[in-house]
Amino acid sequence: MKKIIFLSITISTSIFATNLGSLLFNGNCKTCHHSTKSISAPSMANVRENYLNAFSKKEDFVNYMSKWVKKPNEETSLMDSAIKKYSLMPELAFEMETLKEITSYIYDTDFTK
Ligand code: HEC
Repeated sequence: MKKIIFLSITISTSIFATNLGSLLFNGNCKTCHHSTKSISAPSMANVRENYLNAFSKKEDFVNYMSKWVKKPNEETSLMDSAIKKYSLMPELAFEMETLKEITSYIYDTDFTK
């Protein structure tokens, strides 16, 4: 019985984590980053592709992207041409933990599907 309870807790927290990342992304990033269409900002599929090319390991991807979003700047950008085209992304006041939740969701999500 104990085992069953433990298992159901692990499953529900992992579902919660996935939903949290998705909720945060949809509420805070999607206004500018459409899944596949680049309108006022590059599409998330495009951003993700650039970051995946640079970082194949999830940990590196998440750390680099979270730090960049915390403090957008030209020096550490992976998408110079996007800055020229759309101008630099504004700084959003998020905690590092929140950003890691969001960028982890981005790593795991194929936005072209
Ligand atoms: C007000 C519009 C806006 C919002 C909201 C926004 N972005 Fe952006 N973002 C941009 C624009 C414009 C660019 C392209 C220029 C640049 O790279 O700075 C960009 C670029 C990026 C890049 C590429 C960085 C690079 O290497 O140049 C990442 C990663 C990113 N956004 C993540 C996010 C995440 C995650 C969120 C939500 C927490 C978010 N953005 C919310 C406008 C926005």
